[in-house]
Amino acid sequence: ALRGSFARKAQKPNQSSHHGLQLQASYKVAILGAAGGIGQPLALLIKMSPLVSALNLYDIANVKGVAADLSHCNTPSQVLDFTGASELGNCLKGVNVVVIPAGVPRKPGMTRDDLFNINANIVKTLVEAVADNCPDAFIHVISNPVNSTVPIAAEVLKQKGVYDPKKLFGVTTLDVVRANTFVAEKKNLKLINVDVPVIGGHAGITILPLLSKTKPSVSFSDEEVEQLTIRIQNAGTEVVEAKAGAGSATLSMAYAAARFVESSLRALDGDGDVYECSFVQSDLTDLPFFASRVKLGRKGIEAMIPSDLQGLSEYEKKALEALKPELKASIEKGIAFAQKQP
Ligand code: NAD
Ligand code: LMR
Repeated sequence: ALRGSFARKAQKPNQSSHHGLQLQASYKVAILGAAGGIGQPLALLIKMSPLVSALNLYDIANVKGVAADLSHCNTPSQVLDFTGASELGNCLKGVNVVVIPAGVPRKPGMTRDDLFNINANIVKTLVEAVADNCPDAFIHVISNPVNSTVPIAAEVLKQKGVYDPKKLFGVTTLDVVRANTFVAEKKNLKLINVDVPVIGGHAGITILPLLSKTKPSVSFSDEEVEQLTIRIQNAGTEVVEAKAGAGSATLSMAYAAARFVESSLRALDGDGDVYECSFVQSDLTDLPFFASRVKLGRKGIEAMIPSDLQGLSEYEKKALEALKPELKASIEKGIAFAQKQP
């Protein structure tokens, strides 16, 4: 009961192994912002992964206790703590997957873009260190506004000469997790079977669930489509308001981020059947970055799935056109920020 579906999948025999052995703990994961609301439960979930041999926790404060606490769990990974800029480089050496939930969260009344001024600098600084110390790692950006922080990360990596667009991911898994949950509730479906792709970006109307592509195939009335779409788009705000000033989604986000980490590790390990939605460099639309389903492999994104954007409903086609100006502006804001920095 302790294992989520993301962990259960990792129990499959290792098809890439010549010996047919169970998956071995062999990957190194770093969390930057590990003492925070997302960082702590995310560290716990990753500590439970059979694929992880080392878990490096970095924050500007309070990370020693988190690491000491977690290190007592009798699971394979070794947990190490790193505090402050002088220890960041060591935290990142040899790491396969870097997860970045560092930064400030929203309070009621704020948009994700209101976090730009603080979080843009945090992400820029952290990604510079990633570029210097583990340029081959998969980079999972959680810090908001994702629609801008991912383009910032891309620019920083380009400036450092190590940008691999196949390995830079904006984490939008929580949108899929929410869509799956809300659709299963509404249509009385067995939760474990439901899969709704969510495309676009990660803020307000840029979050576009493709309900017409729900698996298993299910039909929605126009009213249901409208209600579900709006609920999925506002789900982050729903949590921000319920927390009433104490932050935004942390537990569901940790769950979603752990699923994305587990999927990345399975892909790195040679599983040929790993698909996730993520906000990535993309040529599926006229926007340079776009969230959609991608196939993950050992080298990062192995394939985009253009057919996912074909055969959309009229509602989805309109919503896709309507989200583009906002998403484009957020992307450009991120790029401009990174380019004007020395
Ligand atoms: P939090 O304030 O609880 O934790 C953030 C942590 O980051 C803190 O421990 C803080 O010390 C640390 N930090 C700050 N500056 C740092 C730096 N320069 N280097 C390393 N660590 C640093 O916030 P939270 O609830 O964990 O949220 C973190 C971020 O994730 C926010 O920007 C939030 O908007 C975003 N978020 C994204 C999604 C998503 O779906 N992508 C979902 C939820 C939250
Ligand atoms: C979310 O979707 O929960 C996060 O992006 C946090 C937020 O600010 O809503």
